[in-house]
Amino acid sequence: MANSERSGNAIAHVYRGTFVHSTQQTAVQILEDALLGVNTQGKIAFIGEGKELQRLSQTFGFSTSEVTQLAKHEFFIPGMIDTHIHASQYSYAGTALELPLLQWLNTYTFPVESRFKDLEFAHKVYTQVVKRTLRNGTTTACYFATIHTDASLLLGQIANAFGQRALVGKVCMDRNNSVKHYKETSQESQDETYRFIKELSKKEYPLVKPVVTPRFAPSCTEALLVQLGAIAKNNNLHIQSHISENTEELKLVQELFPNSESYTDVYHKCNLLTDKTVMAHGCHLSDKELALFRETGASLSHCPNSNISLCSGVLDVRNVLNHKVKLGLGTDVAGGYSSSMLDSVRRALDSSKVLKIQNPDHETLTFEEVFRLATLGGSQALSLDDQTGNFEVGKDFDALRVNVAASDGPIDLIQHEEPKILLEKFLNLGDDRNIVEVFVAGRKVVPFTEPTSA
Ligand code: GUN
Ligand code: FE
Repeated sequence: MANSERSGNAIAHVYRGTFVHSTQQTAVQILEDALLGVNTQGKIAFIGEGKELQRLSQTFGFSTSEVTQLAKHEFFIPGMIDTHIHASQYSYAGTALELPLLQWLNTYTFPVESRFKDLEFAHKVYTQVVKRTLRNGTTTACYFATIHTDASLLLGQIANAFGQRALVGKVCMDRNNSVKHYKETSQESQDETYRFIKELSKKEYPLVKPVVTPRFAPSCTEALLVQLGAIAKNNNLHIQSHISENTEELKLVQELFPNSESYTDVYHKCNLLTDKTVMAHGCHLSDKELALFRETGASLSHCPNSNISLCSGVLDVRNVLNHKVKLGLGTDVAGGYSSSMLDSVRRALDSSKVLKIQNPDHETLTFEEVFRLATLGGSQALSLDDQTGNFEVGKDFDALRVNVAASDGPIDLIQHEEPKILLEKFLNLGDDRNIVEVFVAGRKVVPFTEPTSA
């Protein structure tokens, strides 16, 4: 028996071909003719060179005939990580984008979210959003659901059934909204958050975890924010919310929280900024606020489609990175109209170029940097980088098998191209037709097989 088998680390799959991923030091590292082994627990057991096949097969106890060889024009990248998406808003994605944030919430968002009391409707929408995002290459999603605990639990169940890694948040809001029945009392919000955490944890889904989710400061009283901070702390949980998305919202927060120095300070005072916190947008944060993010280890989710679609602002990602604040990308469906992380990659590049147009001294993001934000950066932003984000040994195998030359795909290859050019073409021109297989924790989740239970 090989060593690996004795340690319960038997190899389930070995892949050979080009692997492209990011590390802390290198935004795009390309490993050509590499061999990657996945163990029975779905973790990366080794990554080596093709020429080491014999040695690796002996060390890890697999047969060389079982190796899956990637075709020409194919490569693996890490699964993409959507650090901010409203699963419940998927039902109207691609519509209703002509109003600014606060009016958009009152006119479109709250009426739609209130429908998730109906579990049948929730089941339909949540199944569609999980399937669509998986197909688009989102192996990890950080979801907002709605205020409804049972529907939020259903989202966790569906993500688990289809094999997506997910943080799921039951939304908390105890004030200020226009839709009468789409609001909780402070006590309900607290009690239901407890119930949500307890019930979801009881399911012991291996890849689905709860995230404490105050919608944003204007929808929560200070008392509720304090309670939610305590719940997260006592249970060592993730936290997500929105911050400093548009200027009207900023003004409202100043009015509602006159004793706070800044929007960031509102959350900080309530113990909601931790190294497991992700805040969406942050377009209008000051350098002082960014310093507080850095100090607390809280991260930002950059949602460029939404920032543009709702005319909210343009996040200066370069400045965020210079402040060494953790940052990932998000689709922010349905403020962002696309559920594809490839769209988020493109809008992040566009937004950076808009800043360059406004200020020629601005240092634009490179596609390599944005690739890192969509993968490793996202995993760091969600504090899941011990499990996912790149092809480091010991992490789960969350990966996309990309075929740039997929037949019927959107990319025409005219000549032989280097892997880095193929990556650039995929990021700028590709879509789900190029994502031929998706793996989460070693399990092939796309093409779909029948879910185990949903
Ligand atoms: N701020 C508070 N709620 C929301 C929401 O649903 N979407 C966006 N983009 N911003 C918000
Ligand atoms: Fe959002």
